Amino acid sequence: MPTGIAIIGCGIIGSAVADILLHEGPHLRQRSGQALQLRHVVERDMPKAKAAGVPTRIITDKLEVALADKQTQIVVELMGGLEPARTFVLRALKAGKHVVTANKYLIAVHGKELLAAARRAKRSIAFEASTGGTIPIILAMTKGLLANDISRVVGIVNGTCNYILTQMTQFDQSYAEALAGAQAAGFAEADPSFDVNGTDSSHKIAILAALAFGADIPLDKLEVSGIDTLHDTDLRFAREMGYVCKLLAIAEKVPAGGKSQQISGTSQQSISLRVHPTFVAKDRLIANVNGSFNAISVTGHASGETLYYGRGAGGKPTASAVVADVIDIAIGTYPMLFAQLPALNKRAEVRFIPSSDIISRNYLRITALDVPGVMADITRILGQHGISISAITQHESKAGHPVPVVVMTHEARDGSVASAIGAIDKLKTITAETARIRVLS
Ligand code: HSE
Repeated sequence: MPTGIAIIGCGIIGSAVADILLHEGPHLRQRSGQALQLRHVVERDMPKAKAAGVPTRIITDKLEVALADKQTQIVVELMGGLEPARTFVLRALKAGKHVVTANKYLIAVHGKELLAAARRAKRSIAFEASTGGTIPIILAMTKGLLANDISRVVGIVNGTCNYILTQMTQFDQSYAEALAGAQAAGFAEADPSFDVNGTDSSHKIAILAALAFGADIPLDKLEVSGIDTLHDTDLRFAREMGYVCKLLAIAEKVPAGGKSQQISGTSQQSISLRVHPTFVAKDRLIANVNGSFNAISVTGHASGETLYYGRGAGGKPTASAVVADVIDIAIGTYPMLFAQLPALNKRAEVRFIPSSDIISRNYLRITALDVPGVMADITRILGQHGISISAITQHESKAGHPVPVVVMTHEARDGSVASAIGAIDKLKTITAETARIRVLS
């Protein structure tokens, strides 16, 4: 008897999953030993599902049709957003179905409730495709790295942003052109503001942090800034100085005193969670992750640093992760893991550290009038805040025009850097807000 599947939502990912299930059944069976049958595609926009090549007889606009079908064991939620996705998932569990979802927003916000509901219903929710697109990062965190006390997760987890930054840096495209390209390629969300303002990355790092630290991660504990406020000038300066700019999502344990570094075996976990554009030295592996690719580095006390790489967005790559989850449920391995794994149900007490207590290197672009004493004022203020300069550059100015003064700092407390910038920007000789980008140490 094949395992019956219903897909809810026939957008970019839904149609890619349907395509694999409809046309690659024999190969899937050969590789996994499982016969899978797509029995329903629940989609209000029926012409959209038909255009995706889904046979009319399995398209329905009523979830209850799929839920009432005893031969459907797995419901794949691919509609995105919080509602009605949350209600549909709860209804599917109540109807005795396992659930697979690619919905990072849903898992980051309602994961605790939904996972508990699944456990009560003796069913499972698989969410590999929620984070890192095609990369089996959830599998790594819940299985491959189980021997480890994880101290740090750092990732490029938004394909749209990474594509935009790559197009701007390597092909001199404007932000608007690059964003349009990401939308045309099917990487961006329907409303791309969640991509570019860092929210989507915050959902994904919250999911990874919950698994890494076995803790509930309220989204308001994350400090988030995106690429939508970046300036072309800073991407140019990054290039000049041997860096590339990446949107990084970071979750790490921070020892008492606030120094951001790798630790292991601590009983009281203090955690820092943040998403921000970051300068990365161009010879580092993560600096060379381009286009819609994602990369996630996970550091464990036994494994040391591990790195996972693959396409982070788009229909087929994401469908690859969705179908893997479907197969894992059909085989029965995932429901067993789901029922027993403490990382998915026990919750550790953690303390969240504000980013002001984090220590990092910084790039500052200060816009100053080219008059005597400016440089002295800037260096004095940085010194007063305990910030040591590792490099300072001023390009030659045109008479009467403000000039960018670029400062690279040694490691400094985030809070001190913020107050130094506040003081610098109050100087009469400073004509625009200072741009500040953290530098990956
Ligand atoms: N919009 C998301 C991205 C899709 O660009 O990464 C994958 O979650």
